[in-house]
Amino acid sequence: SAKPIIAPSILASDFSRLGDEVRAIEGSADWVHVDVMDNHFVPNLTIGLPVVRSLREVTKIPFDVHLMITDPEQWAPGYAEAGAHNVTFHAEACENPVALAKTLRAAGAKAGLAIDRDTPVEPYLELLPYVDTVLIMTIKAGFGGQKFLPEMLDKVRDVRRRITAKDLAVRLEVDGGIAADTIAQAAEAGADAFVAGTAVYGAEDPAEAIRKLRALAVA
Ligand code: DX5
Ligand code: ZN
Repeated sequence: SAKPIIAPSILASDFSRLGDEVRAIEGSADWVHVDVMDNHFVPNLTIGLPVVRSLREVTKIPFDVHLMITDPEQWAPGYAEAGAHNVTFHAEACENPVALAKTLRAAGAKAGLAIDRDTPVEPYLELLPYVDTVLIMTIKAGFGGQKFLPEMLDKVRDVRRRITAKDLAVRLEVDGGIAADTIAQAAEAGADAFVAGTAVYGAEDPAEAIRKLRALAVA
């Protein structure tokens, strides 16, 4: 797989100082992961388009937007237009993933397909040529700070096998419970992009935590 990407999730940061929290990881992280929740697709509410627009003004780091919302067709293109590098929507919430990925790419973003804990990957493997990122949840989407579910790694292996077999340029991202004690297993299974909320923003020194994760993210 490609050089690992470390994407700290600002869900675990101090929302009263969001700009500073993003800038604190600018030199050490590859992307910043932005968890958008609508209290409908998941039972939790976070931030949305106005916050992404404001943050876009104060940092150069690529935004990895993770939409845990219903009706992504309505909202996802706005994030692409707001300058997100990657916009990931949930398979469970989307009627036509290929069409939405096409729309996102036309709006200048990479398109990501997320698979939640209770969703199998098999029905989606044929969609891989149409997306740039596949995000496998290694927890149930909705909250940070949950325990990593190693049984999700079978899905990572299945997706990696398909990416390799078809020689696709698809990023394989894992999200949930990624920390120093779990990241190597995920890399071993074939992940090459790693979201980490608590493990980065809960650390004394976020930049040091990122370096440590990066060193462990080798298959
Ligand atoms: C949860 C979010 C995750 C979350 C990860 O629904 O999608 O990105 O922020 O947090 P940690 O790393 O603490 O599990
Ligand atoms: Zn996320």
